[in-house]
Amino acid sequence: MSAPTPPLVLGIETSCDDTACALVDGEGRVLASVVSSQLAAHRPYGGVVPEIASREHLGNWPEVSERALEQAGVDFGAVDAVAATRGPGLVGSLLVGLSLGKSLAYGLGKPFLAVHHLEGHLYSPFLDAEGGAARTAPERFVGLVVSGGHTSLFDVVGGRVTSLAETRDDAMGEVFDKVGKRLGLPYPQGPKVDALAEHGDAGRAVELPVASTKASLDFSYSGLKTSTLLAIEALEAAGVDTTYAPDRDPPFGQEVLDLLASFRRAAVEQVLRRLRRLHRRHALPLLAVSGGAAANRLLRRELLAWGSDAGVDVRLVPLTFSGDNAAMIAYAAALRLARGEVDDPLEAEAVSRLPLGA
Ligand code: KG4
Ligand code: ZN
Repeated sequence: MSAPTPPLVLGIETSCDDTACALVDGEGRVLASVVSSQLAAHRPYGGVVPEIASREHLGNWPEVSERALEQAGVDFGAVDAVAATRGPGLVGSLLVGLSLGKSLAYGLGKPFLAVHHLEGHLYSPFLDAEGGAARTAPERFVGLVVSGGHTSLFDVVGGRVTSLAETRDDAMGEVFDKVGKRLGLPYPQGPKVDALAEHGDAGRAVELPVASTKASLDFSYSGLKTSTLLAIEALEAAGVDTTYAPDRDPPFGQEVLDLLASFRRAAVEQVLRRLRRLHRRHALPLLAVSGGAAANRLLRRELLAWGSDAGVDVRLVPLTFSGDNAAMIAYAAALRLARGEVDDPLEAEAVSRLPLGA
């Protein structure tokens, strides 16, 4: 690998349950991206326990940072700037990563950048999964972020972000998790529901509603969640066995798989309807799609098909960078650094609720 192009940015991401450290160079090349999952620690509780997450971050950091430096073939002395997520997220978790980043920057005498988690996701579709230079984001693009906490559309012009739409209730990834949880799937349920839906036929199941938020581009997923939970109940009332049987392949009967396919179709269709409407109002030059739920297979297929029909350049985040990671934080910081922006490590604070571009 050729030598990193300065500035070399070390990124830290600890907003939820993943402890992540990455090194990204001045061309946006990801030299290392290490994500340590805390799944095992949270699994017994069926979801993320904030107290456990903070403690795990502290315990995981030494190994995660050492592995990242080793992968990149550099030591702390080669780092030109340090970035960490300041929010939104679990405040205890954020505090761990932010404090580590601040003290590291201060100790090294290097610039510090406190990055918004969603700004990280927004630019992640431009990263190269094979370690090549990042593609340059155009002056203007629309970003779709679909994750466990957000379902959002942003207009990005020259690095300035304006919010176009947000979910009014649940996030897309969150309802995948909740539907999966109702069926007894282990956490995180979203990817498993998606994989199971691949084996179902939406046309054979009850049709589930695609929420309308009238003229607004906002999203709403709680109605779909309720309808899906009721549809599961209706199957059970009709005598269908909905028990999760991990030893069987597939672990559910066909009726449940069909229902999951119907659920997924409605969830994805809502995103497409908002995009079609937005595109009718202002032709979209480029759509950058990111966030954990951007790994959804149907969403990826449908967005690419729509983009090629509508003439929109759709950039899907590489699967390695769809879930939370620190490469996206380091890259967003590198872009800000190139614009001459830095933060004071003594001032930056962790914020659990932090709108972007509101
Ligand atoms: O971006 P992320 O790692 O964390 C947040 O910032 O929320 O997203 C995690 C979310 C979880 O809700 C997870 O279930 C969901 O993304 N997710 C998926 C898929 N893979 C991950 N949801 C639907 N289909 C998937 N394939
Ligand atoms: Zn995220």
